[in-house]
Amino acid sequence: MSNAPKSELEKVFADVASNYQGSDIDLHAVYAKMRKTNPVMEGNFMEQLGVPSIAGVDPNRPCFTLFKYDDVMHVMRDASQFTSGFIAEGLGAFFDGLILTAMDGDQHRNMRNLLQPVFMPDTVNRWKADRIDGVIREEFIKPLVPQKSADLMDFALYFPIRVIYSLIGFPSDQPEKIKQYAAWALAILAGPQVDPAKAQAAKKAAMEAVGALYDAIKLVVAERRAEGGTGDDLISRLIQAEYEGRSLDDHEITTFVRSLLPAAGETTTRTFGTLMTLLLENPELLERVRNDRSLVNKAIDESIRYEPVATFKVRQAAEDTEIRGVKIPKGAMVSCIVSSANRDEDVYENADVFDIDRRPRPSFGFGFGPHMCIGQFVAKTEINCALNTVLDMMPNIRLDPSKPAPEITGAQLRGPHQLHVIWD
Ligand code: HEM
Repeated sequence: MSNAPKSELEKVFADVASNYQGSDIDLHAVYAKMRKTNPVMEGNFMEQLGVPSIAGVDPNRPCFTLFKYDDVMHVMRDASQFTSGFIAEGLGAFFDGLILTAMDGDQHRNMRNLLQPVFMPDTVNRWKADRIDGVIREEFIKPLVPQKSADLMDFALYFPIRVIYSLIGFPSDQPEKIKQYAAWALAILAGPQVDPAKAQAAKKAAMEAVGALYDAIKLVVAERRAEGGTGDDLISRLIQAEYEGRSLDDHEITTFVRSLLPAAGETTTRTFGTLMTLLLENPELLERVRNDRSLVNKAIDESIRYEPVATFKVRQAAEDTEIRGVKIPKGAMVSCIVSSANRDEDVYENADVFDIDRRPRPSFGFGFGPHMCIGQFVAKTEINCALNTVLDMMPNIRLDPSKPAPEITGAQLRGPHQLHVIWD
C-alpha cells in the first residue's frame, strides 16, 4: 500500500500533520522546565510554537497556559467556572447545530444525558464483533498478511474511519464515498492555519467540506427515519434516543454525526500509531503483551497518558479567578497542556517512563470532567481489536531495520508519521 500513489486522504493527512507540527524542540524537556519555573504562564504557549490554537480565536483576549496536573484537573473538571462556548466562535456553519464540545451548563448536561447511552460499553460491545473486530480483521489485516511488510500508518489512517462509518450505518458497499467523506472530515481539521496566506484557502475548503458532509449525512438520517429508526446503527440509535421527553430532530442528528467524523478518525489513527511505536521500540514488552492479552488495555491507557494525541485543551474563565497566585481575569483563555500534566513528576512516579504496570490514575488524554470524550469506549475498543489482530495475524512483528525508525512528533495532534514493520 505504501508504494501506491498518495490518495486524497493521505495528502490531506500530510497537510494536517505538518500544520500541527510545531518546532523540532524536545517538548517534554520544555514542559518539565515550565512545570518548575513557570507553571502558570501568561501568554499562549502554542502560539509561540507557531501551532494554531483555538486560544487565539480573539487576539485581544488575554491567555494563560497551565502545565501542572492539579491545575489542569481543576480547570477541566469545573465547567461552570471554565467554559467551552467560545469554541463555536469563528467557525460559522460548522457550529450550526448540535456540537457537544462547544456547549455549556444545562444545555450540555441535557444533551450529554441524551447521547451518553449510545456510547456506553453495553452498546459498543454489541457492535464489537461485526462492526469493529470483523471489519479490522477481514477488510484490513487479512489482505495485508501475505505482504510481510507494511507502513502500519497506512492501515491506521483508514481503519478508524471505516469503523466509524460502519457504526454510523453508512452503506458499506461504497468505499470511494467513504474515502471522500474522510477527506472532507480532515479538511475541517486543516481549517485553522497560522500562515495568513494559507488560512483563507484552508477555511474555504473546510467550509465546503462542512456543507458537503452535511448533505451526505442528512440523506442517510432521512432514510433511517423513514425505516422507523429501528436499526442497530448509531444513527438509528440517535433517532431512538430520549431524555426527559426530549429527542433529536434530523438537523441535530446530522450535525452531531458530522462533528464525530473529525473527532473519531484522526485521534484514533494517531493513538494507535503511538501505541504501536511504543511497543515495537520495546520488543520484550511487546512479547509480554502478545502472551498476556489482559495487558492490552493497560498498554492503551499508558500510551494515552505518556503521549496523548490531543496535547492541549482550552477553556475560557467565566469569572475573575486565581490559579497558583496568578490572577486570571474573566474572559481570559486558559490553555491546559495535557502532555505536560500527564507527565507531572509530583503525581506520577518515573513519569517519563512508559510503564504499563503503573498504578492506574486518571490522566487527561481523553479530557476530564463533563466534556470527557464521549467516544472513549469506542476508541479503546477499536484500538484493542486492532492491536489484538496485529498480534494474532502478523507473527514476530518488528520494526523494519531497512527503513527509518518511527518518531512520535508534533506539538498538537501528536503521533508518528510512518511506522514501517516486517513480520514472518
Ligand atoms: C483515541 C481516540 C480519541 C481521543 C484521544 C479523543 C480525545 C477527546 C478529548 C481530549 C475530548 C475532550 C474535549 C474537551 O474537553 O473539550 C474529546 C471529546 C469528545 N470526543 Fe473524543 N477522542 C477520541 C475518539 C473519539 C471517538 C471514537 C468519538 C466518537 C465515536 C469521539 C467523540 C467525542 C465527542 C463527541 C466529544 C465531545 C464531548 C463533550 O464535549 O461532551 N472521540 N475527545
